Amino acid sequence: MTEFEYLEIGYEYGQAAAGFAPGLLRNLLSRVGRRAAPKIPDIVLKLKRDWSTADKYYANAESEKWLGSFWDVDSPFRPLFDRLDHDHIIELACGHGRHSWQMREWPNRKTLVDFVEANIAFCRRRFEGYDDVSFVVNNGRDLSGIESESATSLFCYDAMVHFHHTLVGPYLIDSARVLVRGGMALLHHSNYAKNPDGDYRENPHARAFMSPDLFARYATAAGLVVVEQRVVSWDADKDLDAITLLRKP
Ligand SMILES: C[S@@+](CC[C@H](N)C(=O)[O-])C[C@H]1O[C@@H](n2cnc3c(N)ncnc32)[C@H](O)[C@@H]1O
Repeated sequence: MTEFEYLEIGYEYGQAAAGFAPGLLRNLLSRVGRRAAPKIPDIVLKLKRDWSTADKYYANAESEKWLGSFWDVDSPFRPLFDRLDHDHIIELACGHGRHSWQMREWPNRKTLVDFVEANIAFCRRRFEGYDDVSFVVNNGRDLSGIESESATSLFCYDAMVHFHHTLVGPYLIDSARVLVRGGMALLHHSNYAKNPDGDYRENPHARAFMSPDLFARYATAAGLVVVEQRVVSWDADKDLDAITLLRKP
């Protein structure tokens, strides 16, 4: 298969398996065989295993240095984050909530989402006493449990970089659903356009196969408009990642 065919099929498969276009699934499987595109439930299970046992990561991630790469004024993330309407902000794949914690004194509504129950339990304890914070343990592939057209913004840092690209399509479609018109999503994703069939953990910093172009295609297909994309480095790995700012028209 050419890379283009793989991408096409990956996107369609993601939609089909996530239930957005169920009629496609049988047709796709007969076109590519069961091995070509991993099944979404298997991808989710594997990711869940990886992130249920990552205590060292969660502890290190709270350091000033790690946080600074997202929150310092000269970070490439900060000016884009400041363009969001934070009134009701969803943090997808929140881990132990270190990013939403930066907003703990802000008078906004925050919804923290993660598919690892222990992470959401941690966040519940962390945000005890703070108003207007809600928590969702999701299914690892969409935002069910969150009301349609209820959020003014959504962001995801240091997590979607690891998502198999067939999960990215469904998440973008559901981001479009939960955002109000004019709402924006800020997504930190991989720019590692190699090893499409491999395990993401084989890649530098466990980045999943993705490119800004592919991401933009998925976003456009989900009905979102690409406002800005930046290619960014991660540690010493030049241009390993990208950040995309999207708007729901
Ligand atoms: C590297 S941690 C980052 C956590 C947080 N975003 C941060 O920067 O501290 C990756 C997080 O993504 C979550 N995650 C991974 N795959 C996910 C999926 N498919 N759906 C929801 N959450 C997911 C994991 O449970 C974990 O909390």
